[in-house]
Amino acid sequence: MCGIVGYIGDKDINSVLMAGLWRLEYRGYDSSGVASVIDGEMEVRKVKGRLMNLQELLAEKPLSGTVGIGHTRWATHGEPSDQNAHPQVGCKNMIAVVHNGIIENYYSLKEELVKRKHFFKSNTDTEVIAHLIEENYKGNLKESVSKTISRLEGSFAIAVICTEEPDKIVVYRYGSPLTVGIGKNENLIASDIPALLDHTKDVITMNDGELGVIEKNKIEFFNSHGERIEKERKRIKWSAESLEKLDFPHYMSKEIHEQPQIIKKNIELKIKGNEFDFGVNFKFTPKELANLSHIIIQACGTSWHAGYIGKYLFENFARIQTEIDISSEFRYRNPVMDGEPLVMAITQSGETADTLAGLREAKAKFLKILSLVNVRGSTIARESDSSIYLEAGPEIGVASTKAFTSQIFQLYLLSLYLSKLKWTMDGSEIKKQIKEIKKLPQKMKKIIEKEKGIKKIAEKFKDAKDFMFIGRGINYPTALEGALKLKEISYIHATGYPAGEMKHGPIALITEGSPVVAIATKSSVYDKMLSNIEELKSRKAEVIVIGTEGDEIIKNLGSDVFYIPECEENLSPILSIIPLQLFAYHIAVLNGRDVDRPRNLAKSVTVE
Ligand code: F6R
Repeated sequence: MCGIVGYIGDKDINSVLMAGLWRLEYRGYDSSGVASVIDGEMEVRKVKGRLMNLQELLAEKPLSGTVGIGHTRWATHGEPSDQNAHPQVGCKNMIAVVHNGIIENYYSLKEELVKRKHFFKSNTDTEVIAHLIEENYKGNLKESVSKTISRLEGSFAIAVICTEEPDKIVVYRYGSPLTVGIGKNENLIASDIPALLDHTKDVITMNDGELGVIEKNKIEFFNSHGERIEKERKRIKWSAESLEKLDFPHYMSKEIHEQPQIIKKNIELKIKGNEFDFGVNFKFTPKELANLSHIIIQACGTSWHAGYIGKYLFENFARIQTEIDISSEFRYRNPVMDGEPLVMAITQSGETADTLAGLREAKAKFLKILSLVNVRGSTIARESDSSIYLEAGPEIGVASTKAFTSQIFQLYLLSLYLSKLKWTMDGSEIKKQIKEIKKLPQKMKKIIEKEKGIKKIAEKFKDAKDFMFIGRGINYPTALEGALKLKEISYIHATGYPAGEMKHGPIALITEGSPVVAIATKSSVYDKMLSNIEELKSRKAEVIVIGTEGDEIIKNLGSDVFYIPECEENLSPILSIIPLQLFAYHIAVLNGRDVDRPRNLAKSVTVE
């Protein structure tokens, strides 16, 4: 949700800022802009639309200078336009600000500033920051930023440059992520690590309430009391190559194909014989976990779907009552959190504002927090008592794919571990489960190798206007996820339902030719699914079935059938989601959609 970058050093400012923005484009792509100080003047280039527009503008009118900031926007306040693009400047063109987040009290601040004769050029909340810093400036940028942030309410990460002090970038973080990259004779800042990796792997993650003064050869941090603080420097493991698309046409395609490898890596890291190893950040003792009264999972979007699958797993295997909630609901509904629950936050980015707020809500009640998170060092990882990393590598495609299957994998392992601690499963059953898990990468690979088959089905249905996705039991959340994948990247309406619910209303929508995707793999609810498919067929729906290899019955039921390898029912979502991801992908491509950058979306949702 908006990406910010900053650079101070001797490299070409245009290419460094642009390269950083390309890496952050997944955070928003409504408009973009950059600013630098050239011969004591603030130079700003900004433009509505995709980053390519900014690249073209910079090719025509490049910047120079040794200090610069940049921004790629996901619009909150003010429509996407040239004026509303960041950087925003004050009246005197002396201060330029890029901002990720929301200033909630910007109306009153703007009113105040207008009364004091400030002239506003945009409809953004961000512009008030530039005017306030300018007004507070008395020869010290750090002081004027400090004074300004004490007036701001909301969540924000900002980077500020000033014509009077072209040797520094002042940054501040409260509620939105910000990382500093440490180079040689140069330093950088960015909303996310990928924007730094081309230059350095040494980073410092800022915490809420911290202010940084970034110079070419010096970095200083200050806490909320204005005291200087020392901060830990970390070395990032991700390589710059892992951020490339390689030979794939889209990141989404690359990330779907990476899934077998990611599960294999997770198996190697986390299964040691018949024991589980969740890594050094998993700090709960077996005793603590054995005494849990229940589990509360809260997450958003795809991560919520994974959490829903987790509910089935924890209840099925470990017999632990599990609640699943959407974070934006959880945080405002005053949930009962009595007893000794474990509160889980599931998140790819580790920065989702609602999930973070839910976590903080639970923390304020002194509950145990476990996060399943992909991005190391992210806010949610840092604020949790324990974390399990997804080990999925950077996920760049806006539609989450590989993080989802890895989330299910972690939930599966955790539910087996809890079963062991709670004695709901014996050693031999766990051994059997582990054997099944180890077969997953090969089975996933086999599905991906049949991509052409799913593409053919996509070709047949590419012009449909409405889809339903149905499943039962543990594949009901898979149906929800399949529908989400399709709608978010193809813009075709799609809804997921528990198959048994169709007759309670949604079946009224079925007419001749209505496409329905049904997950009917071999399971305890297989016969029930067959009946539900029959009900749809009698109303002349076109049923696309995801079935288990060798199932001849399903062949005659579905208009189209895509087979996946046989597997343990509780593991099946990891397999059954893959054809649905591929189906969504191919329909979107066939409809000419911008698969990696679907409209109105951003990868990291750092606003409420
Ligand atoms: C959909 C998608 C989103 C995210 C959601 C939560 O493909 O990616 O629904 O799952 O915004 O994001 P994280 O997992 O980063 O908390």
